[in-house]
Amino acid sequence: MSERLEDIAAAMVADGKGLLAADESSGTIKKRFDVIGVESTADSRRDYREMMFRAREAMTRYISGVILYDETIRQKAADGTPLVDIIKATGAIPGIKVDAGAKPLAGYPGDTITEGLDGLRERLADYYKLGARFAKWRAVIDIDVARGVPSATSIGSNAHALARYAALCQEAGIVPIVEPEVLMDGAHDIGTCYEISKATLTKLYTELYAARVVLEGTILKPNMVLAGKKSGNTSSPEEVAEKTIKLFRETVPAAIGGIAFLSGGQSDEEATANLNAINAIGPHPWKLTFSYGRALQAAPQKAWGGKAANVAAAQAAFAHRARMNHLAALGKWQPELEQAA
Ligand code: 13P
Repeated sequence: MSERLEDIAAAMVADGKGLLAADESSGTIKKRFDVIGVESTADSRRDYREMMFRAREAMTRYISGVILYDETIRQKAADGTPLVDIIKATGAIPGIKVDAGAKPLAGYPGDTITEGLDGLRERLADYYKLGARFAKWRAVIDIDVARGVPSATSIGSNAHALARYAALCQEAGIVPIVEPEVLMDGAHDIGTCYEISKATLTKLYTELYAARVVLEGTILKPNMVLAGKKSGNTSSPEEVAEKTIKLFRETVPAAIGGIAFLSGGQSDEEATANLNAINAIGPHPWKLTFSYGRALQAAPQKAWGGKAANVAAAQAAFAHRARMNHLAALGKWQPELEQAA
């Protein structure tokens, strides 16, 4: 495969393919395993992820790349094969989460700043040797209008960190996924999500430009424009699509390699229906696909439940969600296809 950044980015958003975000930190995967009653150990985390990476047909047809966590990129399957080799054998590209998480921003209660720039150049060189050809850095922007969250300082600091990260990635021959996630957890309406996302993306591209990042060799991982969960409102896929595309047309350069959404706490079907509606109103200047964590994994996690006997059922559940999102990335999904499973 080509090692040019723009070719890697294009492969990440190849028609009908998207990314599997399997980069949960040890803390986050423990929370997911608690729900299904599975103890989180290095071996159980390995078994679980190996199950997905060995879902050969789903991986080959629908998954362009996998975002890994530091532990996973170094792990071997039960038979001794490095997990990275299993991923590569399906044609998918291995990627790596490199941020060190969102921490409270001093002086700004309720805001966070994502850490992890110190030593990043050296870590990227190591990850490149381990096979990673793209990376992910997630900035977290919460919305709590009454508290003045997010502050302009938080949006600015996070955009600056994303730009420094992206420049270091490109220096290392690694495509940066830039992820400025505006959370859907608040009580805000869809218009507020649109406004905060607009301020965030505007600042992000100003900083990427200033950092001399080559936009063709980047992937944007954004939130969709949605009402906050605590508002009690769910917007229709048509409204989500219309507002999300309006936002991107106003703020996201056509030059970037592509767009791969996070699911952010939407239900499995919601994440699929919204992605489908977004693509159904195309053509757009960019490819728009998925980079889902929860919306690809909730169903297989439940089916697996930590038991080797359930591996085939879990792989089928994963394949189903991957295929539904593959269709949504093409604007060809229909709700009736969910029942067929
Ligand atoms: P979700 O799809 O669960 O939001 O996770 C995607 C991701 O990688 C967040 O950084």
